[in-house]
Amino acid sequence: MAKFNTRIDKMQEKTISGFSKLSKAGKVRWVVENFFRDPEKAARELMSFWHEDEEQQRILDGFSENTISNYYLPYGVAPNFMVNGKLYTVPMVIEESSVVAAASSAAKFWLSRGGFHAEVLSTRKVGQVHFSWGGDSALLFRHFGELEKRLREDAAHITVNMEKRGGGVLDIELLDMAHLEPDYYQLKVSFETCDSMGANFINSVLEEFGSTLEIFVLEHPAFEGEGQPLEVIMAILSNYTPECIVRAWVECPVGALGSGCSGMSPEEFAEKFAKAVRIAHIDPHRAATHNKGIFNGVDAVVLATANDFRAVEACGHTYAARDGQYRSLSSCSVENGMFRFWLDLPIALGTVGGLTRLHPVARRSLELLGDPGAEELMMVIAATGLAQNFAALRSLVTTGIQKGHMKMHLMNILNHLEASEREMAEAAEHFKDKVVSFTAVREFLKLFREKKGSLA
Ligand code: MEV
Repeated sequence: MAKFNTRIDKMQEKTISGFSKLSKAGKVRWVVENFFRDPEKAARELMSFWHEDEEQQRILDGFSENTISNYYLPYGVAPNFMVNGKLYTVPMVIEESSVVAAASSAAKFWLSRGGFHAEVLSTRKVGQVHFSWGGDSALLFRHFGELEKRLREDAAHITVNMEKRGGGVLDIELLDMAHLEPDYYQLKVSFETCDSMGANFINSVLEEFGSTLEIFVLEHPAFEGEGQPLEVIMAILSNYTPECIVRAWVECPVGALGSGCSGMSPEEFAEKFAKAVRIAHIDPHRAATHNKGIFNGVDAVVLATANDFRAVEACGHTYAARDGQYRSLSSCSVENGMFRFWLDLPIALGTVGGLTRLHPVARRSLELLGDPGAEELMMVIAATGLAQNFAALRSLVTTGIQKGHMKMHLMNILNHLEASEREMAEAAEHFKDKVVSFTAVREFLKLFREKKGSLA
């Protein structure tokens, strides 16, 4: 008990109320003094990442709360992406080495084979009002037409602008879910949100629907004497948008796969590649890694354009498990001498609204892409995911993944060990045919420096 109390006391030393009211420097001070071994050094380091332009920093701070610094990630570009005959240089924000190189290499490979093709199959989004109703289910369904009219009328002040842009509320369905949870019903609402991701719009409409629903049942004479009033449990968009979906694909005659096959015949390569994709359909362990490779590309562009990568991931993985087993999002066929590789990706994106135009670098990403609308961005992102998947599988079924990774891995270790340019060049030569590990590189540098020292 005494030990437990000491732990609680120690924890309490590190609690604070009113943290959000401190100035930014005050927040840094509290954090470094309470959690860092060398507070001065830590404060200097955290503050060195503050933007030198105060206005830019104010914009960044406005995105979140309790900010004490900025967290940098590399911003790379993958050129030579042809999608539906249009050339793109794709912005990618990712910390993992080799991803941008792999995307660029796959983009170049397909550039001379017709490029990527992509088609948005649908852009319908979904939101739900979850509610409890202990009364007669038939009553709800009988008066649903009347309710739907009221829902649309009451939310008109929110939907009017979206309707002017060609979007709005598409359908409203009433679902009886009481066989799964007592008294549980749902309004399942479909939306079109044009070039915005639409989260705020959808949630505002749904909350309005929730109020209307409760009032409708409370005031309507037909519902009198039905016992408990109807209660809205929650109103929120669904991040699962299987009908907001894009397909990207590449195709070419098997023979044209030619030089991409690292010593295999194009036919052998195509068959082995297609088998690798089938394995990711069959086996969830492989499927998770396979799809992770797809999201290496997808997330990097989603981040570069300040879209919501958590929403994109949640949706993609739910879709991958739509038949009850988690499977590959991409597919491949080798038929009648044609190699086809495609990706169906449900993805809800915006190119207006949210942070897309507020984040200064995201704004540049969109400019780099030619200021696309949401549908065009969906296609570019799906093509990047497919490119990434192609590059990963091509390595896996030919040379193995480590060969490509090792060079970057080596450079990262050398940077960490503060190697000079000369040392980097020597190390690159030395490790050309050797396994790279942190210990091996550190040992190599030690010996190299000792040798150099003894020669000096
Ligand atoms: C690594 O980030 C991604 C891969 O593991 C994807 C795959 O295995 O398909 C290479």
